[in-house]
Amino acid sequence: MEVLVTGGAGYIGSHVCVELLNSGCEVIVVDNFANSKPEALKRVQEITGKYLKFYEADILDKLALEKIFSENNIEAVIHFAGFKAVGESIKIPILYYNNNITGTLVLCEVMKMYNVKKLVFSSSATVYGMPKRVPISEHFPLSATNPYGRTKLMIEEILQDIYASDKQWSVAILRYFNPIGAHESGRIGEDPRGIPNNLMPFITQVAMGKREKLSIFGSNYATHDGTGVRDYIHVVDIAKGHLKALEKIMKTRGIETYNLGTGVGYSVLDLVKNFEKATNKKIPYVISEPRLGDIAECYANPIKAKTILNWSAEKNIQDMCIDAWRFQVNNPEGY
Ligand code: NAD
Ligand code: UFG
Repeated sequence: MEVLVTGGAGYIGSHVCVELLNSGCEVIVVDNFANSKPEALKRVQEITGKYLKFYEADILDKLALEKIFSENNIEAVIHFAGFKAVGESIKIPILYYNNNITGTLVLCEVMKMYNVKKLVFSSSATVYGMPKRVPISEHFPLSATNPYGRTKLMIEEILQDIYASDKQWSVAILRYFNPIGAHESGRIGEDPRGIPNNLMPFITQVAMGKREKLSIFGSNYATHDGTGVRDYIHVVDIAKGHLKALEKIMKTRGIETYNLGTGVGYSVLDLVKNFEKATNKKIPYVISEPRLGDIAECYANPIKAKTILNWSAEKNIQDMCIDAWRFQVNNPEGY
């Protein structure tokens, strides 16, 4: 089966490409390297020993997408391409709305033209806004607290409308919780530009000595130790979830939403301690002001993905720390 992966050179996309190639799929990637490097795709092929077809193009470019669909026998699309930095989305909302929403519209338009109606979409736990309780199930109320989150919410609604208008579509919306870690080879992983926004890449850079100390954003949350609690999940488990979702949409029609999380919450301090234990590295930290818009606790009820997709996370927090660290040590300057 030929699968188009938009944003396949990125952090999650590259790990999904590895799993797709290992499962025998033919993989076609479209990426404009807005937030990634060609090296990631070279390494995906090196890890798997398999060939991957690649187009350097922007998904906003309809003609370029039409060329990709006309030159291949694409049966399904896994759609990662988009911008993802919450803070940046507040500063440059027009770019975020255009890239994420228009990009998805152009993609769906071309998919429809070529009668390809199987889609897996990357959504986020951010669509739950400020949840009233945890663990979070798919039917919980949705809201957004920033432009990035709003793009995910709007795209989810657009996909619902597309399915309502044409019942031939089969769509899986995957709401990721907090993907961390890297492929166990240490060859592909998260390669943030500049100062990392997210916790794990910040921790690995502190451990490398690239940054002096971690700032822990707030210690007065209503959690077991006062620091924010999240559902960290190994990126390879996330990648495997995509294969299960793909399997499902190839056999069915409809639109379904699934949480991809472990169901277990760890605080910032829990993650720091686990990282120190896994790597034998000390992580100096200071407590600073809470980050605007952050919530106290966010973790999934992952039962729907378990029941319907037969998927659940297998790797634990130590695996996540060891693998994130291996990628950082092997790639001190990233790709
Ligand atoms: P990433 O930035 O590493 O990957 C996104 C890829 O899309 C990059 O390779 C980038 O170059 C490409 N891209 C962006 N705009 C494009 C365009 N217009 N045309 C072609 N390519 C384009 O991000 P990621 O962490 O791999 O996330 C993948 C998806 O999952 C995103 O949609 C993101 O919003 C979503 N998501 C990520 C997280 C997370 O914590 N990493 C959590 C929830 C949801
Ligand atoms: N944190 C720190 N210091 C840092 C970075 C983060 O203390 O330097 C804390 C945060 O306050 C939070 C936790 O670590 O309590 C996790 O923060 P991340 O930035 O790693 O992740 P978030 O849960 O804030 O957000 C991530 C993605 C979003 C996505 C969301 C839900 O960045 O895009 O998960 O999936 F929407």
